[in-house]
Amino acid sequence: MNTRQAVIIWQLLQLALLTSAAVQMQDGRYSGLQVAVASKTIEPLDGLKFIADVQNFIHAGSELLNYAMDKRVSINDFTLMIPRTWNASNFGSVVRASDDTTIKTADILLHDAADELPETLQAELCGVPGRQVSVPLFFLSLSEEEQKQFGSPGKIFAHEWAHYRWGVHDEHGFGGDDVYSSTYGNYQTAMCIAGTTNGTTKRDCSTTDICEPGSSGCYFCFGEDETADQVQASLSYMPALSTGKFCDAATHVRNTPSPQNVLCGGRSIMEVIQQHPDHLLQ
Ligand SMILES: *[C@@H]1O[C@H](CO)[C@@H](O)[C@H](O)[C@H]1NC(C)=O
Ligand SMILES: *[C@@H]1O[C@H](CO)[C@@H](O)[C@H](O)[C@H]1NC(C)=O
Repeated sequence: MNTRQAVIIWQLLQLALLTSAAVQMQDGRYSGLQVAVASKTIEPLDGLKFIADVQNFIHAGSELLNYAMDKRVSINDFTLMIPRTWNASNFGSVVRASDDTTIKTADILLHDAADELPETLQAELCGVPGRQVSVPLFFLSLSEEEQKQFGSPGKIFAHEWAHYRWGVHDEHGFGGDDVYSSTYGNYQTAMCIAGTTNGTTKRDCSTTDICEPGSSGCYFCFGEDETADQVQASLSYMPALSTGKFCDAATHVRNTPSPQNVLCGGRSIMEVIQQHPDHLLQ
């Protein structure tokens, strides 16, 4: 065997290992989830609090998924991998060291990059699983005030899991974006809610100046005192104003310019999820 063949076989072996490391699903329970911390992340001062935050994030996410899918889905277990530079004895016995491969193949990557939001690396296709979820550590321990803006850890997890596992897309647009405008037509807005809102379009939600829907940087702003119970936003639209459900065929608006509508041909989040092999097999 020459070097080139050896390299190819080595790559095939790695591929086999990567495939076998994938999350498994049985009877609505996902197992084998891998969570890795990016290598240059600064070691937290309180290792046990960090572990508790990660456990809470996954546990709360599992409960949310269970609620969103009517008690058919949960996260059974996960492995947490921390950088080799961290002192493992500060984290109890529940961690393993991460390396370049596990960082690339982990389902969820935790990092401490500033000014980033939780996101899922995902192909521009409908129903195709994403590559990896990345979550800044900041989002694991949000204050109540911050949760009003971003949603609870469980809702954030469920939003990203739907991208990652089921290949659904955001139900909001982006202010001033030509394809995915957050507002369109006459005072309509790309959103998915089952309740009501009396919000309006503005460039800066903290002001009273209304902007022309569809114009650059013009967003929909909810009223300050509006609650999740009143708005009932879809988890894929706005976790913070969601009661923990996705839009379904009954609540979905098919003609708004959201990524979900454009990429999934106007189908609701639940319609796409119900066609996913995870659910067809149940
Ligand atoms: C790692 O942590 C343990 C206990 O928390 C401590 O005793 C030890 O000195 C630390 N090791 C290093 C290399 O800092
Ligand atoms: C919007 O709705 C909230 C809650 O029902 C209400 O308190 C508020 O006065 C409404 N604002 C406007 C401008 O109608």
